[in-house]
Amino acid sequence: MPNVSRRSATAPMSPIRRLVPLANEAKRKGKKVYHLNIGQPDIPTPKEFLDGVRSAPVEVLAYSPSQGLPEAIEAFLSYYREWGITLSPEEILITTGGSEAVLFALNVACDPGDQVIVPEPFYPNYNGFSRLAEVELVSLTTSREDGFHLPPQEEIERLITARTRAILFSNPGNPTGAVYREEELGLLAELALKHDLFLIADEVYREFVYVGVHRSVLSLPELGNHAIMVDSISKRLSACGARIGAIVSRNPKVMDAARRCAMARLSPPTLEQLGLVAFMGHPRHRQVLQEMVEEYRRRREVLARELALIPGVSFQLPEGAFYMMLGLPVDDAEAFVRWMLTDFPGEETVMLAPGEGFYKTPGLGRDEARIAYVLNEHDLQRACEVLKRGLESYQEVAPKAPV
Ligand SMILES: Cc1ncc(COP(=O)(O)O)c(C=O)c1O
Repeated sequence: MPNVSRRSATAPMSPIRRLVPLANEAKRKGKKVYHLNIGQPDIPTPKEFLDGVRSAPVEVLAYSPSQGLPEAIEAFLSYYREWGITLSPEEILITTGGSEAVLFALNVACDPGDQVIVPEPFYPNYNGFSRLAEVELVSLTTSREDGFHLPPQEEIERLITARTRAILFSNPGNPTGAVYREEELGLLAELALKHDLFLIADEVYREFVYVGVHRSVLSLPELGNHAIMVDSISKRLSACGARIGAIVSRNPKVMDAARRCAMARLSPPTLEQLGLVAFMGHPRHRQVLQEMVEEYRRRREVLARELALIPGVSFQLPEGAFYMMLGLPVDDAEAFVRWMLTDFPGEETVMLAPGEGFYKTPGLGRDEARIAYVLNEHDLQRACEVLKRGLESYQEVAPKAPV
């Protein structure tokens, strides 16, 4: 049998999805599983979007242009104008989800063997994308106590080598919920200019900000050619299955290289681009986006209130996105998450994403787990009650770490 490549066979599995077979088995046995492990919102996709897909004037479902349909590009541009960011059509390329935009960004910014600095904990799929691009991620550790904000300049600068090509970060952060302050973005911009690096800002959670304001990497005029932005409609339109995202840069060389990557995969989904066009053309679209954010704001409050009732659980109130990193009163959060799925008695259980997979530094995140507050307020409250009972029962059966 021929061997598969080392880089694919050893790519780390997503901590968000790895334990799903255990959840499926629990469900098969009749258990209700509250899925707080994955950023899959339960909010209906806006009717304005779905109507656009359903009534698309299509006889042949054809390839779209590699960079996206002109009207869908215009829909993205009009969206950015609402954020005060003016772009021309050549500065954006529509991708198959934000995922493909991250992959393109890494491939455009780096050659094999190059390094990219990424604040940890980070979105675990950056591991898979960097493996495919043969890029080494270099982690910049941030901590729960600091709300996962950036450490001082010297600590970041210490990681920069002759092989560093970019700093990649999600803002607002998944899994951290951190929204970078003006001065943090300024610091990253200063470092990018000083060391001639790309800043790859993954802004797929741009709308979801509860504290402070979001500053896009594209709103820093001094960054110009150094900024690459990754975007997606998956979360803001509760349309994860649409697979529509974008890579955006004012650097013509970046966009030329991205277009070459895009040609190889032919085109992004056609019908869903038409859905986006219909959505953005609808007078209610801004209101729909705002209602979505308000829903998450309420959920965040419910979650904080309920988690505060669980002894030993520590967290900082997230400023954005819809995730929270929790410190758990256990030695090994993964063992606890597994136990909740396989051994916790009762008719209901909760699934979290174990924290370790969000870090690159070995050993970090072992007592942490990520919660995605993607369930309605009632289910969230119930899930927290189940989590509380789970932690209490687990204290009695958990193996203790040797002292
Ligand atoms: C930070 C971040 N970036 C990118 C993505 C990819 O999103 P999609 O490919 O659905 O657009 C996600 C999805 O969870 C994410 O959390």
